[in-house]
Amino acid sequence: LHVTWDAVTAEKGGYDHFMLKEIYEQPKAIRDTLAGRIKDGIVDLSQDLSFTKEDLKRFDKIHFVACGTAYHAGLIGKSVVEKLTRIPVEVDVASEYRYRDPIITPSTLVIVVSQSGETADTLAAMREAKKAGAKVLGITNVVGSSVAREADEVLMTWAGPEIAVASTKAYTSQLIAIYLFGLYLARVVGTSTESQLAEATRALLELPGQAEEQLENPEPIRRFAESIAKHEDLFFIGRGLDHAVVLEGSLKLKEISYIHSDAYAAGELKHGTLALIEEGIPVIALATQQPVFDKMVSNIIEVKARGAHILGLGLEGDQELGKSVDEVITIPKTLPLLTPPLAVIPLQLLAYYASVARGHNVDKPRNLAKSVTVE
Ligand code: G6P
Repeated sequence: LHVTWDAVTAEKGGYDHFMLKEIYEQPKAIRDTLAGRIKDGIVDLSQDLSFTKEDLKRFDKIHFVACGTAYHAGLIGKSVVEKLTRIPVEVDVASEYRYRDPIITPSTLVIVVSQSGETADTLAAMREAKKAGAKVLGITNVVGSSVAREADEVLMTWAGPEIAVASTKAYTSQLIAIYLFGLYLARVVGTSTESQLAEATRALLELPGQAEEQLENPEPIRRFAESIAKHEDLFFIGRGLDHAVVLEGSLKLKEISYIHSDAYAAGELKHGTLALIEEGIPVIALATQQPVFDKMVSNIIEVKARGAHILGLGLEGDQELGKSVDEVITIPKTLPLLTPPLAVIPLQLLAYYASVARGHNVDKPRNLAKSVTVE
């Protein structure tokens, strides 16, 4: 008898690796995280959170605190929540937060973001924040985890179990939870008009289908990944929310392919390491943010002039980007605020295929753990 499958292979559901399976589970993770939280076109988190309107109105600043990929979700959270609510938001990595003597008062809302809900640095920061009198909202993927138990309020992400060390569907679900909370809070504090909120909520509901569309044809990104596999250094650039997304794309690539990369705010490259851009160096340039599109194109031209080989990531229907880059990949059109969960998908696939091309252990990269329970 020759047995050609085992329990692990069966769990991968036909995918070569858990990471690829989890990348493809993102439309479902987004859908499940949205489910039951939008009623008649309005975000309603009253089943999840027991904050009263008065509680929510009292917050005069918000701190996102997290590690790794969850920290990158917090960076998106800053832009999203500030834009929607005009409440000042700071973002910290948990291991720094506790030691920088942050200004925490009873009117501070601390949002800890953690897939596992068990990261030691995040737990320690959460406990300090509580001690200092802040209210803590936990965004986590694990029911019954320490974050779920100890935070004052919890907003679950419903990504399902994430096995691959490199986080994918947990990240996109964290973004969705952040959008939901931002829209919920904005309605209470009255900083966005009803029609702005309705438009954003409608666009949010389109994301699962758009993520499916995004995943339909991975071929161009797979080809680009194979072309970068022989490189040891590359750059990611983006402005605004695209900058936060490239930080995550760069982390993903480093984690599993071991290719070194830097992610720059595109306008900052000329103040730093433009000297490192030489003939043939791969640059991944995100240009999904319409308000800064022209500025982004100028930055792309700067690196092109130094011989970079550029993959541009833009919005569907964009006729301009293709003129200044070598290859273009597009994401479905959505509001500028909502591009990150779509724009990150090609970057996750890039990291995945680059790791496969280099023959690495995609799901269990060297020296990394899924959950880091030591400080
Ligand atoms: C580890 C993982 C990362 C993760 C980070 C935070 O370093 O390798 O993928 O982003 O921990 O984990 P958490 O469970 O708190 O989101």
